[in-house]
This record gives sequence, structure tokens and C-alpha cells, in this order.
Amino acid sequence: MPSPRSIRPSCSQPLPNPPSSVSVTAASAGGSQSPGDLISCSGLPASEARILLAHVTGWSRTELITAPQVPLPEAQEEAFATLAARRRAGEPIAYLVGAREFYGRRFKVSPAVLIPRPETELLVDEGLAALGALSAPRVLDLGTGSGAIAVTVALERPDAHVTAADLSPAALEIARHNGRVQGARIDWVESDWYAALGARRFHLVLANPPYVAADDPHLNQGDVRFEPRGALTDGGGGLGALRTVIQGAPAHLEPAGMLLVEHGYDQAEAVRAAFAAAGFLGVRSVSDLAGIERVTRGVLPG
Ligand SMILES: C[S@@+](CC[C@H](N)C(=O)[O-])C[C@H]1O[C@@H](n2cnc3c(N)ncnc32)[C@H](O)[C@@H]1O
Repeated sequence: MPSPRSIRPSCSQPLPNPPSSVSVTAASAGGSQSPGDLISCSGLPASEARILLAHVTGWSRTELITAPQVPLPEAQEEAFATLAARRRAGEPIAYLVGAREFYGRRFKVSPAVLIPRPETELLVDEGLAALGALSAPRVLDLGTGSGAIAVTVALERPDAHVTAADLSPAALEIARHNGRVQGARIDWVESDWYAALGARRFHLVLANPPYVAADDPHLNQGDVRFEPRGALTDGGGGLGALRTVIQGAPAHLEPAGMLLVEHGYDQAEAVRAAFAAAGFLGVRSVSDLAGIERVTRGVLPG
């Protein structure tokens, strides 16, 4: 009988795409490839292959690194081959495993929502700092997507009354799920920016609106091809949604209330000008760890 090592396949080709109907009932059948074989034959960077295999097997990534070289069940091999093929075709890892970490918490994601980005944590940091000693502040997250910003603020500031709005019902469904699972109390509103908020006013408005220009070639490259267009671009030059959010904010902020927006790497100057034109004071931009101005804030007169 061959030892598990002796059945190790050669990896001159990536794993073939699996048959279209993968039988999950084959879970008990023994496959022929160990975790190490599957990772090295996947045609993916090992770090990505490990995330997908951990998702399929339920093992931790550390367990996969130290795993014995024994074959996995055939159904797991097939499920992994399916995900690896989709990843090779460009689908984002977060959509394949259905989750992404943000501010140390796990958020469900689907192709209905933008995958939360690490740089958006800066927006949350600035927002939490701005809330400071305010008691029971009212906070609005505009264009909530997965709910990452709203849920994080609600959990970091349990005394806050958080409202989160999005135009997309499908995104709100994911956001509601994330709020429920994480135990965050949030008022979810389907709204075209401020349209459904009536005369409600907030101490802090946070927004990460779509700010990529419609003709930006990056929209047709890499992982972003799979994200919702309406979450990425305003359909014009990139500043349209930002201006709508900035111009509408004074009618929905308390005196001395703050607006904080995330924007593109080359938009800070135009965004500051829009803040000033809308009557904001103390307008300034904050740079991320790479030194790029990513977030701009302004305060209404008191
Ligand atoms: C860049 S994504 C941000 C998602 C999430 N806040 C985050 O930071 O990961 C922009 C979000 O704005 C939403 N959006 C686009 N147009 C909108 C509109 N007119 N009114 C409200 N939300 C809108 C999109 O559906 C999307 O969820």
C-alpha cells in the first residue's frame, strides 16, 4: 500500500476545474490529496489557498500548516477545487468565503456589498475620537453597505444612537444581518442619501460614498470587477456623491456637528473646497498610514 507521501501528485498544472455538479454527499469518501498538495497545486499564492482550504475544512490556517500529509475527504477536495478555480478567475477571497474582517470583527459580505477596506478604519477612528465625551450622541452612517462602519461605531460606543442608510435593499439585508449577529442596535433606513431621513439631525455624519470616476480603468481590473458598481463609482467624475453628501449635511447636523467623509487619494483638495462652500469650519484632511489624505472632516458653526 502506498504511503500518503507516495500519492502526492505532480503540480505541473493547477488543479483542474471540478465537475459542474459537486456531490457534497461524497464527504465520507477518501480523496487522494493532502492539505499541502492541494495548496501547492492550487495555482494560487499559498496564503490565499490556505484561507480557502481553512474555509472548506473548518481547520485554522495554523492547523493547515502543521497538518499531517494525509488525504482529505473527496468532497472537501472538490469544494476547494471549485473555490480555487473561482479565485483564479479573479473573484475576491472575501466573496468566496462570505466574510471580511473590519476593526477586529468578522462581517458577512456578498457581491451585494463593497468589501470593507482597511483604510476605512481611519474614518471610524476619527469618528470615535470626534464623539469624545458627548453623551448618547446621534450618529448617521450614509451608504452603509455591509454595515461595517455603523456596527463598529454602535459597538465601540454603546451609548450612541446609530442610524445607517443605503440606497440598496440587498446591501441593507446584509448590513441588518451583521448588526443582528454582532448585537448592535441600529436604525436601518433605505434612503437615497438624506431623502428618507426627514428633518432628523445628528451629532456626527460618517460617509464612505462611491468616489471612483466612471472611466477609471481600475474598475475593470482585479477584484473590484466583482464589486457592485453603485458602491464604487458615482457614474461621473468621482466627486458627485461626495458633493451630494457634503451639501446635504448642514440640514442634518446639530450645531457644532461634524461631517467626516472618506475619499480618493487625489480628491482631498476638491473635497475641502466643497466643505468650505457648504459652510463648514475647521476643515482638514487626515492621512492614512501611507501618508495619503483619505478622510476629510468639517464642523458646523455652533
Ligand atoms: C463605497 S461603498 C461603502 C460601503 C461601506 N460603508 C464601507 O465603507 O465598506 C458606498 C455605499 O454607498 C451606497 N450608495 C450608493 N449610492 C447611494 C445613494 N444614492 N444613497 C445611499 N447610498 C448609496 C452603495 O450602495 C454602497 O453601499
